[in-house]
Amino acid sequence: MLASPKYTMKKLQLHSKTYSKVLQMHYLGVALVLMVFCLLSPSSSCTEQEKNSLLRFLAELSQDGGLSSSWRNGTDCCKWEGVACKQDRMVRHVSLPSKGLKGHISRSLGALTGLQHLDLSENLLSGGLPRELLSSSSIVFLDVSLNQLNGTLRQLSSSPPARPIQLQVLNISSNLFAGQFPSATWKAMENLMALNASNNNFIGRVPAQFCNSSPSLAVLDLCFNKFSGSIPPGLGDCSKLRELKAGHNNLSGTLPDELFNATSLEYLSLQNNDLHGVLDTANMVSLRNLVTLDLGGNRFSGKIPDYIGLFKRLENLHLNDNNMSGELPYALSNCTNLITVDLKRNKLSGELTNVNFSNLPKLKTLDLDSNNLSGTVPESIYSCSNLTALRLSTNNLHGQLSSRIGNLKHLSFLSLGKNNFTNITNALQILKSSKNLSTLFIGHNFRGEILPQDETIDGFGNLQVLDIQGCQFSGRIPVWISRAANLQVLLLCGNRLTGPIPGWINSLSHLFYMDVSTNRLTGQIPLTLMEMPMLKSTENITHMNPRVFDLTVTNGPSLEYRTITSFPAVLNLRNNCLTGVIPPQIGQLKALVVLDFSFNKLSGQIPHSVCNLTNLQVLDLSSNNLAGAIPVALNALHFLSAFSISNNNLEGPIPSGGQFDTFQNSSFDRNPKLCGSALTQKCNSAEAHQPIIPSAKQADYKVAFVIAFGAFFGVGVLYDQLVLSRVH
Ligand SMILES: *[C@@H]1O[C@H](CO)[C@@H](O)[C@H](O)[C@H]1NC(C)=O
Ligand SMILES: *[C@@H]1O[C@H](CO)[C@@H](O)[C@H](O)[C@H]1NC(C)=O
Ligand SMILES: *[C@@H]1O[C@H](CO)[C@@H](O)[C@H](O)[C@H]1NC(C)=O
Ligand SMILES: *[C@@H]1O[C@H](CO)[C@@H](O)[C@H](O)[C@H]1NC(C)=O
Ligand SMILES: *[C@@H]1O[C@H](CO)[C@@H](O)[C@H](O)[C@H]1NC(C)=O
Ligand SMILES: *[C@@H]1O[C@H](CO)[C@@H](O)[C@H](O)[C@H]1NC(C)=O
Ligand SMILES: *[C@@H]1O[C@H](CO)[C@@H](O)[C@H](O)[C@H]1NC(C)=O
Ligand SMILES: *[C@@H]1O[C@H](CO)[C@@H](O)[C@H](O)[C@H]1NC(C)=O
Ligand SMILES: *[C@@H]1O[C@H](CO)[C@@H](O)[C@H](O)[C@H]1NC(C)=O
Ligand SMILES: *[C@@H]1O[C@H](CO)[C@@H](O)[C@H](O)[C@H]1NC(C)=O
Ligand SMILES: *[C@@H]1O[C@H](CO)[C@@H](O)[C@H](O)[C@H]1NC(C)=O
Repeated sequence: MLASPKYTMKKLQLHSKTYSKVLQMHYLGVALVLMVFCLLSPSSSCTEQEKNSLLRFLAELSQDGGLSSSWRNGTDCCKWEGVACKQDRMVRHVSLPSKGLKGHISRSLGALTGLQHLDLSENLLSGGLPRELLSSSSIVFLDVSLNQLNGTLRQLSSSPPARPIQLQVLNISSNLFAGQFPSATWKAMENLMALNASNNNFIGRVPAQFCNSSPSLAVLDLCFNKFSGSIPPGLGDCSKLRELKAGHNNLSGTLPDELFNATSLEYLSLQNNDLHGVLDTANMVSLRNLVTLDLGGNRFSGKIPDYIGLFKRLENLHLNDNNMSGELPYALSNCTNLITVDLKRNKLSGELTNVNFSNLPKLKTLDLDSNNLSGTVPESIYSCSNLTALRLSTNNLHGQLSSRIGNLKHLSFLSLGKNNFTNITNALQILKSSKNLSTLFIGHNFRGEILPQDETIDGFGNLQVLDIQGCQFSGRIPVWISRAANLQVLLLCGNRLTGPIPGWINSLSHLFYMDVSTNRLTGQIPLTLMEMPMLKSTENITHMNPRVFDLTVTNGPSLEYRTITSFPAVLNLRNNCLTGVIPPQIGQLKALVVLDFSFNKLSGQIPHSVCNLTNLQVLDLSSNNLAGAIPVALNALHFLSAFSISNNNLEGPIPSGGQFDTFQNSSFDRNPKLCGSALTQKCNSAEAHQPIIPSAKQADYKVAFVIAFGAFFGVGVLYDQLVLSRVH
């Protein structure tokens, strides 16, 4: 790609020869040629001083991403990679994003007196940002985002600089900057239009007087820092401000009335702070240019104001995770450009039918999870033909599903769980033909109905997640589930299903999370369950296409899943009436992270092959009729952090070493014939004689212990979540 330096030199000589010939030839013509020459292919190169500034910058890099092959002393620096000059041969642009540059940013760049555009984004640069660059009287655009720069932004001297600072765009985001935001620095930046300081560690207050000094400010991005205090009223003076992002900080207080004077605002996001107050303030009407309003994750209360209907441009409304109450205003029907409405986890009540969804043809995402909405699902929702994700879970809705849901051709995520919907037969008959449905949560509804076994139910060809837990369904595990060939996660727990675990289960070749706990299943554990393709190899799950959920799925108090593949591999048969032995083939299911067979009637021994399940973090075989000894090699399961075999009939010594030393007595109790240091019944010396760490090499063990220790904390949560099983 690069011209070799030799070639470039020759070309230069050639140019100057041509030049002198022309000079001898014709005076007037020369002037003309010279002009063209200067514009197209200048003969003189950049100044020695500018070249040296750039070379000093290069010299201070510890890794130059191959830059030095182009940046060579003795060549014209205007032709160097990423460098551009104007006619006066002064360097105007230095543009080196994503070049793998490492090391410090040299202050020598500040000596390039014509430099207007400096882009060093997305490198591995560290150290501070030289003050010379911030106070430069030539730089207009400065982007050092996505590096590892640290330190504080030093105060520029508070006396006005000798020559005005020209900076219009400053992006210092995604670095490790810390400390206060020096207000005097911004005072000097009269021309600033965009300031992006997101994703750093800045503390203290947001400077109060931004727009007194920078009247042109249009973009202010301060999100993902540790700013505290209130939102400065002075921002209301920013008449040009289009984007204000200050989410994910510690801001508190209310929205100041002055802010509503910033009538150019199109994008206002203050999510995940500690703001409060009501939104029902008349002044807010003036923000009618808003396209995105995100106040989620605060403590706002009161009603969603009626004036929202005047926000005709509004596309994205996020008021999730607040304390909003009252009914959904009819006025929302007037925001005809809405694409995303996220009001989940508030205290909204009243009927959903208040809103005429027919007026919102662009709506793609509607999330009203965890409110107190009542009534039925309004028919008007089914005219939102672009709807992709609909979540109405955890409310007080009732009624049957409308067959018009089939109109929603793009519907891929549907969550209706924890309401009082009725007629599961109807629901399945309708939903089976939703061709694009991939995630379906309808658990905790249809209480006490019979799960239809109907052979005519098929379809669900795209379904990847099916949750019909907690419905107290009777019936068997229906065969139509076997036709949902893409199923990856199946939750049937908390019903009253009878009969055996069906032999066809291994035909679900993508299934890796299966929870049929707390039912009345009988019979033996089928051998086909030991042939589940996804559970037999860790490779399979990691190579699966990680489809991103249309909406984040929460499971337990603090876990959020963005992709299906971030669910652990689980086989949960807990709390049924299963009999027979644990098949020795269990050792084939190498991908398993959670294995729970507790509270059944299983007999025989714990198969030694369980010790092959090296990814196990949770193993619960408690409350069965298991006998014999605990396989010693279980102590080589380094990730195991929750373990129970209590209430069986096991005998002999408890293995020691490895994770076994961390388990509570309660993991082992109510096995009268067990002995060990953790129990009141100690082993005699003959029994106790066993290798402490079988086969594991000392070095390997150390590493494994560190990992297992980390996993321990992660998995405490995992286990809680499993027990809580609050997926929706
Ligand atoms: C570049 O070369 C000039 C003369 O050839 C020399 O004076 C200068 O020190 C060199 N610069 C660097 C950074 O090596
Ligand atoms: C840095 O922020 C500015 C202003 O917000 C923006 O124009 C620029 O694209 C950002 N740079 C990167 C690499 O995202
Ligand atoms: C700020 O910069 C980040 C890159 O670090 C970018 O992703 C983001 O979009 C920028 N914000 C604005 C408002 O341009
Ligand atoms: C908003 O601006 C108007 C004039 O532009 C001014 O009269 C009013 O006092 C301002 N309101 C607030 C709350 O600052
Ligand atoms: C939530 O709002 C109600 C009034 O609607 C108020 O009484 C309550 O204190 C608020 N709770 C919090 C945590 O702000
Ligand atoms: C809802 O809006 C549609 C289209 O704008 C209209 O035809 C329909 O009558 C409205 N329904 C109600 C109940 O207002
Ligand atoms: C939910 O709404 C019902 C009326 O539909 C009301 O009786 C109940 O108190 C509300 N519950 C909460 C927690 O607000
Ligand atoms: C169905 O979903 C797939 C991806 O899940 C998407 O590519 C496709 O466009 C969707 N089809 C419709 C009609 O929305
Ligand atoms: C659910 O609806 C049925 C009748 O449709 C009613 O008897 C029952 O009380 C409701 N349950 C709840 C929890 O609201
Ligand atoms: C439930 O739905 C089925 C199929 O749509 C229908 O035949 C049946 O009458 C419905 N049952 C009730 C009680 O509405
Ligand atoms: C566990 O067993 C040891 C030894 O018998 C005993 O000292 C300890 O109190 C027991 N701990 C619990 C929580 O039962």
